[in-house]
Amino acid sequence: MNQLIENINKRRTFAIIAHPDAGKTTLTEKLLLFGGAIQLAGAVKARGNQRRATSDWMKVERERGISVSSSVMTFTYKDKIFNLLDTPGHQDFSEDTYRVLTAVDSAVMVLDGAQGIETQTKKLFEVCRLRDMPIATFINKMDRESKDPFDLIDEIEQTLQIDVCPVSWPIGMGNRFLGCYDLIQDQLILINKVDKNKKPEIIDTLKGLDDPDLEKKIPLEALTELREQIEMVRGLCKPFEKKAYLEGNLTPIYFGSAINTFGVQELLNGLSEITPSPRVQPSLERDVVPEEDKVSGFIFKIQANMDPKHRDRIAFMRLCSGHFKRGMKLKQIRTEKNITLHNAILFLAQDRELAEEAFAGDIIGLPNHGNLHIGDSITEGENLNFTGLPSFAPEFLQKVRPEDPMLTKHLGKALQQLAEEGAVSTFKRHLGGDWIVGVIGQLQFEVLADRIRTEYEVPVIFENSNLVTARWVICDDMNILNNFLKKNSDATCDDHKENPVFLARNNWHLDHTIEEWPEIKFLKVKEQGN
Ligand code: G4P
Repeated sequence: MNQLIENINKRRTFAIIAHPDAGKTTLTEKLLLFGGAIQLAGAVKARGNQRRATSDWMKVERERGISVSSSVMTFTYKDKIFNLLDTPGHQDFSEDTYRVLTAVDSAVMVLDGAQGIETQTKKLFEVCRLRDMPIATFINKMDRESKDPFDLIDEIEQTLQIDVCPVSWPIGMGNRFLGCYDLIQDQLILINKVDKNKKPEIIDTLKGLDDPDLEKKIPLEALTELREQIEMVRGLCKPFEKKAYLEGNLTPIYFGSAINTFGVQELLNGLSEITPSPRVQPSLERDVVPEEDKVSGFIFKIQANMDPKHRDRIAFMRLCSGHFKRGMKLKQIRTEKNITLHNAILFLAQDRELAEEAFAGDIIGLPNHGNLHIGDSITEGENLNFTGLPSFAPEFLQKVRPEDPMLTKHLGKALQQLAEEGAVSTFKRHLGGDWIVGVIGQLQFEVLADRIRTEYEVPVIFENSNLVTARWVICDDMNILNNFLKKNSDATCDDHKENPVFLARNNWHLDHTIEEWPEIKFLKVKEQGN
């Protein structure tokens, strides 16, 4: 096989989706332990604890260095190279999370066994569903009293309307929880439990439910229950079908306890067998196949750098095709400018290093001063515009002004940069020139005020805007559009890319205007990059 194809076929780029507290951070650490990317659990975990309260979360946001290096975590397991992308963990659903999910090929959904499907799990699942993404499920915290495993499977199937297939099975639960039986390999892996922060060693692998050694290792009562339950599972559930998983119609279910490292190896073995290699990426012009020789990619996330006062930013690029080499000259399609990439970086758990090379499926970080935007397509020259990276109309809108009117210009600059970073939507009113900021979740206002104050030294005041929503307005006939903007100048503005936007005071205002202007399209979702 040619070297390019071989390297691309090894890549597995995925994200973990979970409701806060289900155990995403703990599981991430255990995956990194097995992947040899860290030696001791505890490093990634610190974030999980800190971000619980709003104020703590902001502090973590400020310590952006940590989040940059844990935004992408690369590790190897068996013959695969995994890129695990972090989905921001706070309660408010944000576009940031959505965008990260556009850059992965599959997801692992983590549930708390006592809680089942929670609100955030469902939202994130729906996003993956929209893209027919393959999703594996890990039911965590089986060392606590959990819901009955059969009920959990049923809940997933019913609530999410997806076929389910248990591929590992818990032996007991709560303080009787002993581990997980691997239904695919038909085996039980026994691990030592010396230090739960270190990679556990395998003591024994017992093959089949009739292995005589099982009776020596598992109390008879638990073993009898396990045999009965597995017989039921095998009778009730269809066998695992990889095709249905890859099409997003079936989720394999793993059980475990991330904190005790139970079920993690089974999950990782499974992921290395079933997860898809980098996918074909659609663009306006054509579908781009990962194995193509020429490099291409798109920017899905921008993050301010370690030092908040230093306006360097890292743009995260998902490579869609080809073999990237350090020093390559690539073209930014939006601006038609060439950029030479000497200092692209790769993310290795808590470290970053200069990217000498990378392949389709990998994520590389491009340090820049704000010239790269979310949604930008980058290629070796071909005019490609990757699609599927939308902006959503904000659900909360507020007026923002600086405490000191002398700093209005500074505020404008800050808002422009934060909008380019994707942290917020900003609008400048056509009449009066007020700044309106829009977010998807309320919490983002607090974070925003904090960032503008600390990074740009502009204390700001948010005020009620009396607006309920925004819509991008487009029309084939520019005369009609200009006429609309003129007649509605008290309710229109420009976004940070100078696209015209209509601001609605209430639902009636929106509906009425839509009715009045049938030639105009009012868009709730808009593709990034244009
Ligand atoms: P998150 O990233 O999804 O928000 O969850 P995180 O891993 O931070 O875990 C949330 C809490 O659940 C943590 O407890 C963590 O220790 C605990 N946890 C994770 N996996 C398991 C598991 O398999 N079993 C049990 N019993 N608990 C688990 P905490 O008290 O909030 O933090 P800590 O003091 O334990 O670090």
